Amino acid sequence: MARVAVTSTNMEKITGLPRHVAFIMDGNGRWAEKRGLPRLEGHRAGVKNILPIIRYLNNHGIKYTTLYAFSTENWSRPEDEVNGLFHLLEDIIGKEARELHKNGVRIRHIGRLDELSAELQKPIKRAVKLTARNKGMTLGVALNYGGREEILNAVRSIMDGEVPPEDIDEKLFGEYLYTADFADVDLVIRTGGEIRTSNFLIWQAAYSEYYFTPVLWPDFNEEELEKALLAYSQRRRRFGGLQSKAACSGKES
Ligand code: IPE
Ligand code: IPE
Ligand code: MG
Repeated sequence: MARVAVTSTNMEKITGLPRHVAFIMDGNGRWAEKRGLPRLEGHRAGVKNILPIIRYLNNHGIKYTTLYAFSTENWSRPEDEVNGLFHLLEDIIGKEARELHKNGVRIRHIGRLDELSAELQKPIKRAVKLTARNKGMTLGVALNYGGREEILNAVRSIMDGEVPPEDIDEKLFGEYLYTADFADVDLVIRTGGEIRTSNFLIWQAAYSEYYFTPVLWPDFNEEELEKALLAYSQRRRRFGGLQSKAACSGKES
């Protein structure tokens, strides 16, 4: 996973990259159904597609990437699908943590860990521990994640800690979220054609740019990613003001 030169035509046109890119990896089920395959085959293809995308982003110096792998609402799916998907995730985290570690990636779990099976918690905890001191890209794995659950969890912790109300501002609140030391999201990419956030990073993406594509997640490749990054670089972010600024790496740049 060595650094690669930025050579493609699209990348030449890109003037600013986001600091934090978050993916709603949607469309696995439809990808399988289109081929007459069981939904789980779509998840298998989707999980296989994760590494090349991470590799690309890491090679291009993206500082934070968050992947929506399983939402708090996804528990309502058939048990077979949930368990099958968990096995695939268990497998990829267990297998790829070392390679990511070698490339300086810091892995973080985003969401409720305690509700996951011991078999799934184990590789996650191991990967987080192994990569904790890395200084490269931070990779947030949102697994059993819900934006509302995260906010409620933060509220409970703040109340437990008896934080005086006058001390509660946006900065402090952000420190109680699963993404405490992440930068705000600059770009959310949703594959699969739905135009909604599905409870993903609702606090952190408050001023994010959104990119929606009908391409199904297993088909979302480097070329599609570059299209999204190019679209992002052409956005003008105003953050409520009048001055439009080029969309590079967010508010503080
Ligand atoms: C996204 O693909 C992966 C998860 C939600 C776990 P889907 O499984 O939602 O795929 P579609 O939307 O049914 O095609
Ligand atoms: C969002 O996709 C969750 C993940 C990608 C993990 P869903 O397929 O679950 O979302 P909805 O049902 O279309 O809102
Ligand atoms: Mg879906």
